[in-house]
Amino acid sequence: MYSLLSTQNLSASFGSTQVLKNIQMDFDEFTVSAIIGPSGCGKSTFIRCLNRLHEEVAEASATGKVLLQGHDIYASDVDPVAIRRKIGMVFQKPNPFPSLSIFDNVAIGLKLAGVRRGAILRETVERSLKLAALWEEVKDKLNSQGTSLSGGQQQRLCIARALAVEPSVLLMDEPTSALDPISTAKIEELMTELKKTVTIVIVTHNMQQAARISDKTAFFLLGEMIEYGETSELFTAPKDQRTERYITGRFG
Ligand SMILES: Nc1ncnc2c1ncn2[C@@H]1O[C@H](COP(=O)(O)OP(=O)(O)OP(=O)(O)O)[C@@H](O)[C@H]1O
Ligand SMILES: [Mg+2]
Repeated sequence: MYSLLSTQNLSASFGSTQVLKNIQMDFDEFTVSAIIGPSGCGKSTFIRCLNRLHEEVAEASATGKVLLQGHDIYASDVDPVAIRRKIGMVFQKPNPFPSLSIFDNVAIGLKLAGVRRGAILRETVERSLKLAALWEEVKDKLNSQGTSLSGGQQQRLCIARALAVEPSVLLMDEPTSALDPISTAKIEELMTELKKTVTIVIVTHNMQQAARISDKTAFFLLGEMIEYGETSELFTAPKDQRTERYITGRFG
């Protein structure tokens, strides 16, 4: 399989505190990879390094490489904003833009990129909302505020917003932890559909969720990537004792 995104010796710090140590990982195209591990082990920091969001935090730094299609996204001539379009992100708490309509929440990325043609914007909004399995619920109220939707709908709106600029990778940081079981199931179903066109990396605290939706799973502990393998193997026959203790709930 083709490895679309990979990290080489990726380390990250906040000030003088190192929180990620020499992470080496490959993400195959059109797969879902889950990242699990205890709170504070560096999962969010890791995926924020994958689209250069980490550097937006004061005092934050990273070393090593992140390669997208073989090109280092940290090279000096790379525009981080362009990278964040190719490698989109969805956060734990749905965060639609508060003063924008449903339509504009999805269209904003294209508008910022200078697209003005109404027909193109409308097509993109419809396609993205359909991909995010939200179209049927909102097609008659595209001018309502994004924040008027339910939590689960808002999260699918944020997914549509990320998809509108046609990313090749979608990073998701605990995207369902603030949602009810039905909204969670919808987003899980959606991921299986989305991976036909995008490569997904998801952080989750829910091991059942990782087992249900991911092709590969990585276990992080104290800033290190301990084990990364086929999800079915990692959960049934982990190679490292620390992984085993974590997945069987005997941690600490
Ligand atoms: N803005 C920040 N400034 C300083 N330290 C930070 C900052 N954000 C995170 N950290 C520290 O970096 C380490 C890794 O944090 P990170 O948020 O990546 O963990 P996580 O695995 O995502 O945890 P959780 O499961 O609780 O979301 C932690 O020790 C945390 O305290
Ligand atoms: Mg986190």
